[in-house]
Amino acid sequence: MTATPPTPAAPAGKSPSPAAPNAPVASNAPAPNSAAPAAPSGPRAIGMPIERIDARAKLTGTAIYAAETPVANVAHAVIVGSTAARGRLRSVDTDAARRQPGVLAVLAPGAVPKLPAAPTSGTGNPADRVLQLLQDDKIWYADQPIAVVVADTLERAQHAAALVTAAYDSTPPVAEIDAALGEAYTPEKLAPFGEPATTRGDFDAGLAAAHARITATYTTPVENHNPMEPHATIAVWHGDTKLTLYDATQGIFGVRNKIAKVFGLEPTDVRVIDHYVGGGFGCKGTPWSHVALAALAARAVGRPVKLVVTRPQMFALVGHRPKTVQTLTLGADAAGKLTAIRHTVVSETSRFDQFVEPSALQTRHLYSCPNVITTHQLVKLDIPTPTFQRAPGESTGTYALESAMDELAYALRIDPLELRIRNHSVRDEQDDKPYSSNALLACYQRGAARFGWSRRTASPGSMRDRGTRIGWGMATATYPARMSPSSAIARMRPDGILLVQAGTQDIGTGTYTIMTQIAADAMGIPIEQVRFELGDTAFPETPVSGGSQTAASTGTAVKLAVDKLRDQLIALRQSPDEPWAHVVARSGRPELTAEHKTDKRPDTHSYHSHGATFAEVRIDPDTGEIRVARVVAVYAAGTILNPRTALSQLEGGIVWGIGMALQEHTVRDRRTGRAVTRDLADYHIPVHADIPELDVSFVEEPDPFVNPLGIKGIGELGITGVTAAIANAVYHATGKRVRDLPITLDKLL
Ligand code: MOS
Repeated sequence: MTATPPTPAAPAGKSPSPAAPNAPVASNAPAPNSAAPAAPSGPRAIGMPIERIDARAKLTGTAIYAAETPVANVAHAVIVGSTAARGRLRSVDTDAARRQPGVLAVLAPGAVPKLPAAPTSGTGNPADRVLQLLQDDKIWYADQPIAVVVADTLERAQHAAALVTAAYDSTPPVAEIDAALGEAYTPEKLAPFGEPATTRGDFDAGLAAAHARITATYTTPVENHNPMEPHATIAVWHGDTKLTLYDATQGIFGVRNKIAKVFGLEPTDVRVIDHYVGGGFGCKGTPWSHVALAALAARAVGRPVKLVVTRPQMFALVGHRPKTVQTLTLGADAAGKLTAIRHTVVSETSRFDQFVEPSALQTRHLYSCPNVITTHQLVKLDIPTPTFQRAPGESTGTYALESAMDELAYALRIDPLELRIRNHSVRDEQDDKPYSSNALLACYQRGAARFGWSRRTASPGSMRDRGTRIGWGMATATYPARMSPSSAIARMRPDGILLVQAGTQDIGTGTYTIMTQIAADAMGIPIEQVRFELGDTAFPETPVSGGSQTAASTGTAVKLAVDKLRDQLIALRQSPDEPWAHVVARSGRPELTAEHKTDKRPDTHSYHSHGATFAEVRIDPDTGEIRVARVVAVYAAGTILNPRTALSQLEGGIVWGIGMALQEHTVRDRRTGRAVTRDLADYHIPVHADIPELDVSFVEEPDPFVNPLGIKGIGELGITGVTAAIANAVYHATGKRVRDLPITLDKLL
């Protein structure tokens, strides 16, 4: 029995006119044939703060998320997790669970078919990581799947799962990096981020020549992603060799390829569908064990199976931001010019696979300095494999680097902003390439003016408001402008609707909206005449929505596909004002189409976004309570396709940066290796009362090299820099340098 895959739901085409972004919601109905094809006399939709195309569907509940997909006869699966963190599973007792009403199957090691490709040791490639699929008795981490219970209802599956017990041969885990720093090793690659170590110039000579030097070690904690929508999969087999997955993911093609490999199928025999994603943040960037377990369970019971990862399981089964220990040594001459930088990073990984938090990447290029060393090392622990979490590397890395720059500024008695300006890099000195564009100096200038930085008095503790200590800190933000090959298909229909399809994802970032804007401008028609569809591996292949690359990668493919289609239409039309719909109707074809696949971007430049972040904190000297009073952030990120969705992304990043600075921290029990903070009550994140007005703006940054539309991407930039700006503000307020995140009041007092 199989379910019928629902028709891909195009989001409601609700949008105000681009000319009146704040006007009431316009009619849903497009006006086919009403507009003659205008020559695209410059962008019209791009750059407009258009409301999200999918806003109404999301707010009214008609947007169907993966786990909500109506699938006939679906059964429910629940994962049972290990209570041991290291050792072997001696036995799993599933008898009681099997006897419960409604239980269809209990999967456990020994009673599960061997999968063709379930590797047990990792290559460090996150796209093909080691999953825990009940294939053997090895226990690698607490909460590791040891059984899957399938029942006809969720409640029955949950009840039966609670009755599964297990016996272990286990030893105490080593679950904290500080217990094993002596075992740090250098990985071969920073997959997918390049080389683990770099050297340029002569660090020792540069440091010896310095007038001022600082060395400090900064630590960042384990953090867990918690998108509103948890990970979830519905697996539907069609016979033995064809599989449809409705999966909450940032990368449908990555899920397709990995699951096909695990089950020994052709990638084309697996279809992955995900029209709406309730947040990603990196955890949904690659498929985890539960996706394959859902497919395994569905095969076992001969029915579609739904598996939703619970909130506590989100803290163990879908990756985390690893703890980092970072040591910065900086040297500068008396004028503040950097003479030496060394940034060493140690982060944690699992015993069975490898993920590197590449925290020193920005240190290689952000400032001009002839003598630079960066290294990354790993420590293997009895924990799940960490993964990408919003700005993996640059979030934790800019915290350390930008804190160290602040410490150097005090050592030199130079204003922290002035120090950065004096070390501004006009060229990527590591890769020895020009930046495709770099308006960072303009960000500093505009940010300082908006913040009123010139009124800052330098010495710590010197700014007060009655009893309250005031601190002003700043830091540089930076993130790569990534881009990968992508593809899209454009279809002009006889009703005048331009339908564009690409198998990409909208993880809440605004993909539906910006792709619609790009397509509308490329065709020279209003956005009301454009439909954009995504989230289906039946559409042209696109990269993962990670690394802030979707707008640049798939946006370029969409533009070029529509450009091709428009050229075709122009060649066929009888007069310059013949509507596109007529051209299609006369063609005798049901629609006219054009597909485009982009190549790898040339390596001629160094592609990065930048920003300047300024923060004010107010600290109660008696309680140590830290309030963030203001944040001013100015970004240079190439073309801003839609200021509304871009601001939403950047503000979200800043909020997260505030959480990193002051709140976020997954606490692991040293004895059990288990996350103790495993729900949204114990795992602290900022709420409205924690967040002040955010003053976020952009500077113009035309970029003729990064891609045809000048897009750099803004999904991750906002979380960089701001954490250090707050830490630096805390120091400025108190004279106390807390080098261990989060900065909680116990560390301050
Ligand atoms: Mo992002 S951590 O690349 O989803």
